[in-house]
Amino acid sequence: MNKTMHSITNGLEGSLKIPGDKSISHRAVMFGAIAYGKTTVDGFLPGDDCLSTIDCFRKMGVQIEQKEERVEILGKGFEGLKEPVEVLDVGNSGTTTRLMLGILATLPFHSIVIGDESIAKRPMSRVTKPLKELGAKIDGRDEGNYTPLSIRGGKTKGIHYHSPVASAQVKSAVLLAGLQSEGVTSVTEPALTRDHTERMLKGFGVDVQRDGLTVSIEGGQSLQAQHIQVPGDISSAAFFLVAGAIVQNSSITLQSVGINPTRSGIIDVLHSMGASLTVTNEKVVGGEPIADLNIESSSLQGTEISGELIPRLIDEIPVLAVLATQANGKTIIKDAEELKVKETNRIDTVVHQLKELGANIRATDDGMIIEGPTPLKAATVRSYGDHRIGMALAIAGLICDGELTIENTDAIAVSYPHFFEDLESLSK
Ligand code: S3P
Repeated sequence: MNKTMHSITNGLEGSLKIPGDKSISHRAVMFGAIAYGKTTVDGFLPGDDCLSTIDCFRKMGVQIEQKEERVEILGKGFEGLKEPVEVLDVGNSGTTTRLMLGILATLPFHSIVIGDESIAKRPMSRVTKPLKELGAKIDGRDEGNYTPLSIRGGKTKGIHYHSPVASAQVKSAVLLAGLQSEGVTSVTEPALTRDHTERMLKGFGVDVQRDGLTVSIEGGQSLQAQHIQVPGDISSAAFFLVAGAIVQNSSITLQSVGINPTRSGIIDVLHSMGASLTVTNEKVVGGEPIADLNIESSSLQGTEISGELIPRLIDEIPVLAVLATQANGKTIIKDAEELKVKETNRIDTVVHQLKELGANIRATDDGMIIEGPTPLKAATVRSYGDHRIGMALAIAGLICDGELTIENTDAIAVSYPHFFEDLESLSK
């Protein structure tokens, strides 16, 4: 499907309830599936990625009821998972693939994991390598680096893994395998990444220890079913935060957004660029901090986004690049090589598409440099089947000098099925 965007001349205004956090929704289903008892989830994100997770666990015999944002999972522990007759299709979802591999690694059966064209290009050895060290048998193209993957899990023994990449998916996969492994399993990451796995496992009654950048878990612990309230996804809120900041005369409020410090880098960046952003009603729900965010348009300054900030806003970089085109001066994004292995190579796709709109942007080895402010001109652009590229371009369309057409917006349903309806509801 193609979508045409029009520039907004009189501002965006209103309040939105942002859909559930994708990372937390995946984990709620997976942890519910390996726990004992009935886990209930409210605020679940019914996006294509999280539906892929439900589908995979159903194929392993787990009873899961899902109606919009409510999910019930009847877990019978790890032993309740059965050898799947069908292949486990993860669709476009890297989180489903990598976290599920951590669970499959210790299960005494054979399974095959496949996904779409984008998944087939994404590196999996970052998880299959440590999982093989634990004792799992995993094979696939390039020695288990690419899907389709074949897994024969079984008896595993704890390891201490020093991850070369700052990746919550790697950390989570190894910890999940550690739950069923002999002895202690620990992961040291090069920079702190999102800690939803650690927080949620604690909620399910698991003892998780953290010492600086190392997280450890003792094997043999079982999970007890929980109720999970999923906060709004800050990575989805990001599109409206940027829209409010760059569309003149805007004021947008986003309700109950997760502001976990391992995810809230965008709040720090907006503040450092001079955005008029206020954070109110802060509270903790189900072990995760949430707040309401209000953004109003203001004048913006370029900034540097690098180092330990990167894992705290990795998924927001496409839309932050759009923001930077409207800021005064240079914005430098560096230390962000991980962008190359997301749903698309997001250094290439962002730079290429924003150039089409006339932005002053260039790619570097580990990020991009944007010089602003630049008026954006209308064009026909592509999402490349990447949900976040599609949404970032839609936000750019709000300030283009004419009609912007985005090709292939279907992918947006991966993380935000009602994105355009929500955006339209903010028109005055
Ligand atoms: C995710 C972790 C991040 C993020 C992805 C979701 C997760 O990936 O980009 O969208 O739910 O753990 P990495 O951990 O690979 O950096």
